[in-house]
Formats: sequence, structure tokens, C-alpha cells
Amino acid sequence: MFDARIYSERRNRLKTQVGSGLVLLPGNDESPMNYPANTYHFRQDSSFLYFFGLDQPGLAGVVDIDGDRDILFGDDIGLEDVIWMGHLPTVKDRAALAGVGTTRPLAKLEAALKQAKTKRRKIHFLPPYRAEGARKLGAWLGIPAKDVKGKASQTLCRTVVAQRSVKIQEEIDEIEKALAVTHDMYRAAMAMTRPGIHEYEIMGRIEGIALARGCRPAFPSIVTINGQVLHNHGYGNVLAEGRLLIDDSGAESPRGYASDITRTIPVSGRFSPRQRDIYEIVLKALETAIRAVRPGIKYREVHLEAAGVIASGLKSLGLMKGDPEAAVQAGAHALFFPHGIGHMMGLDVHDMEDIGEGLVGYTEKLKRSSQFGLAYLRLARELEPGFVATVEPGIYFIPPLIDKWRKAGKFADFIDYDKVETYRDFGGVRIEDNVLVTADGRRVLGKPIPKTVVDVEAATGTGA
Ligand code: GLY
Ligand code: MN
Repeated sequence: MFDARIYSERRNRLKTQVGSGLVLLPGNDESPMNYPANTYHFRQDSSFLYFFGLDQPGLAGVVDIDGDRDILFGDDIGLEDVIWMGHLPTVKDRAALAGVGTTRPLAKLEAALKQAKTKRRKIHFLPPYRAEGARKLGAWLGIPAKDVKGKASQTLCRTVVAQRSVKIQEEIDEIEKALAVTHDMYRAAMAMTRPGIHEYEIMGRIEGIALARGCRPAFPSIVTINGQVLHNHGYGNVLAEGRLLIDDSGAESPRGYASDITRTIPVSGRFSPRQRDIYEIVLKALETAIRAVRPGIKYREVHLEAAGVIASGLKSLGLMKGDPEAAVQAGAHALFFPHGIGHMMGLDVHDMEDIGEGLVGYTEKLKRSSQFGLAYLRLARELEPGFVATVEPGIYFIPPLIDKWRKAGKFADFIDYDKVETYRDFGGVRIEDNVLVTADGRRVLGKPIPKTVVDVEAATGTGA
């Protein structure tokens, strides 16, 4: 946990910004995998973690704005739990670590909320993202579980997003701790990359590094020679000579902060000339995008700049044609770069996506585009100092998409489909870094992980 003062300050800001009523922030509970005692890894709710810092199940926080008081609801564990699970400090002692002076048994929460309701006090809560969370909130608040999400407080959602978007130094330090582990995960993945090894051997090793350093994987790792499948979670392939391996993985620090890095590694240890051409375009798009990051710029502009680099680069290879700027405007480049340039990152890899991607990445004035590709951009709004975002351009050859667009004659003025056909089995390239927006620009977080052609080749098991 951070110092108790940090959590108290965060809750005090919440009180000022939400204005009145009660804020209810439930923590997560254990979630059974295949029978009640065999549970998934416990992951605390990120907003509960942000405002109360406690990483155990069975807790709920209430910020009583009008009474200027914070209350932690939870139960002390009994002897049976001590026997099976070990000692856990009392709720009172745990609350003190978060700067909370008042505690109550969990069974008192429903009555406390009922009383607030009868007094017509507003109860603010965030939209639940787990079925259990919706059921629990519904029971406490006396509303059907299916209606809970729709009754979430927009004021609270906006306030929490505004507060969590700007990271303090302690949070940046956590992200950099996760990145230090991620650095070693990548050095190991690169050293292991060679023909004949399975994807799961690399995945197991890198996730093992995260675990062996007191971290966890921040999300299911992507370790695949089929990088054209964007969120590929299969690990069964044998790495074959001539393929590219996409490794998109990250660590979650002990305090819950994520990293999210991607590198593309040639299985043979050397990029073929064709692979190098595509790789250099993606690297240029990454570097251009990173250089563009600064306070005040819309992330959509950064996305479009990267898309412009990709369209120009693909034109120079004969895969695209016509005016690259017009191609990007029309969305033709999205055949190759169908996702967004990046997303916010913090306690969640896609930070606060449970509260609402639209609230995190867009504003009242800046609406999401409906254009294929641009529509997947998670972060489009103006950047502010303290934001941490991923920058992750890519180029992919996705056979079903190519076939569909070709058949429809889509963007035939901008795409040379005969040439694209010769890249059909290419796979994909993505390179991703994590960037902090500073007062006058940006800082790429973490110790550098090889990303130039020369450095990646030198880091592979069979490379230079
Ligand atoms: N690292 C996976 C993603 O950003 O979606
Ligand atoms: Mn990412």
C-alpha cells in the first residue's frame, strides 16, 4: 500500500468534486473457478484499490460526503479462516492503513444504505463489470441486478476518471517497477526465440518471470506467430523459420499497476528484407507518434500521424497507392492498421475501461468516429501532464479482411490488392511502448527494451 495520506487525500478530493451524498465503492470478492473453494486469482477492484488500497476480498468502502466521514465495511475473520488461510489483521487495523477511522460489519451496509435512501440522499456508485458485483449492489440497494449498471452515477464516473487519469509520482514509480520486470520478460523471450520452440514455452517463461519477481501478468500474454489475430491467446504453435513472433505482454506490480509492451521478433534471428521493410515502417510510426505526444494534443491526432506514416510507408512498398493523406482520411490504411494507436494505462491495462471507454478517451465535444479502424481508438482526447498511455502501431495482413475488402472493391484507388496478395502469409508486426505525458512533452517509461532491427536481432537466440 501507499502511505495512508495518499488514500485520505484521494477520498477528500472525491468529496469536494462529487459534492453531496454517499459514494459506495465495493471491493471484489473471491470468484470460484470450478468449485467454491477453488478460486480464480483474486484481483481487487481498481477503484476500490485506488481509494482504499486494501487488497483483500469482502470489503466495501463508503465515502460519506455530507458527514465528511469514510467508513470501511468488512468482517474480521474467524478461527476457521485463520486455520485454513492464515492470520489477517482486523478490519479496524486494515482500515487504519488506508487512513479510515470508522469500520462496520458488512451486514450493516444494507441498513446504512437503506437509511440514506429514506433520507433521500444520493448514493453514487460505479457501473459493475462482474455479474457478482451487479447482484451484490442490487441486493444492497434494493434494485434488480439488471438495472444496476444503468443507475450508476455519471458524476462519480466522471470524477473518478478525472482523478485516476492523472498519475502521481508514486504511481509512475509503480508502473516503472512493472516495466523493470517486463524488460527482463522481453530479454528472455528474445533469447528463447528460435525455430522449433513452442509459443507456450516462451509464454510460460515470461509469465514465470513476472511471478518470480512478486508480480503477475497484467493481462493474458499474447505470444504468437499469428500476430494478424490481434488478441491471439493460443500458444500451441511451433515457431517456424521465417515467421515473426509477436510478444505483447506486461507485468502487474504488487500494488496493482500495469505495464503493456509489444515487440516483434524474427524466429530465424534475422528479419528477411520484406519483414524488415514492414518493421521499419512500424518503428517509424511508433517514433513519430511518441515524438508527437505532449500536453494539449489530441491523441486522435497522434493516431492519425502514425496512420500517415504507415500509409506512406506501404505506398513506398507498392502495397498502397494514391495520396497517403487522402487514404488515411478515407480509412483505407485500416486494412493494415485496424486498431487504435493506444490507450490509457494505470491500475488497469486499459485504464478504467470498466467505468467507460467513452468517458476515459472521449469528451462531450469529441465523439468517437464510426469509421472502421478509427472506431477502435480507445483514447482520442487531449492529453494532459500525468497521463500514461500506450503507443502501439502495427501492420497486419489479415486474410479474411483482405478477401472481404477485395471482393467489395473497397478503396481500390488506395490499395494494390495484387501486391497485398503476395503478403497474405506475412502475419503482423506491432511495437509498443508506454509513455508518460510530462509538462512539456513526454517520457518513454522503463529501461529501454530492444526495438531497432539491429538490437532485436542481436537479442534473439539465433541472432547476431
Ligand atoms: N495488450 C493488449 C491490449 O492492449 O489490448
Ligand atoms: Mn496495449
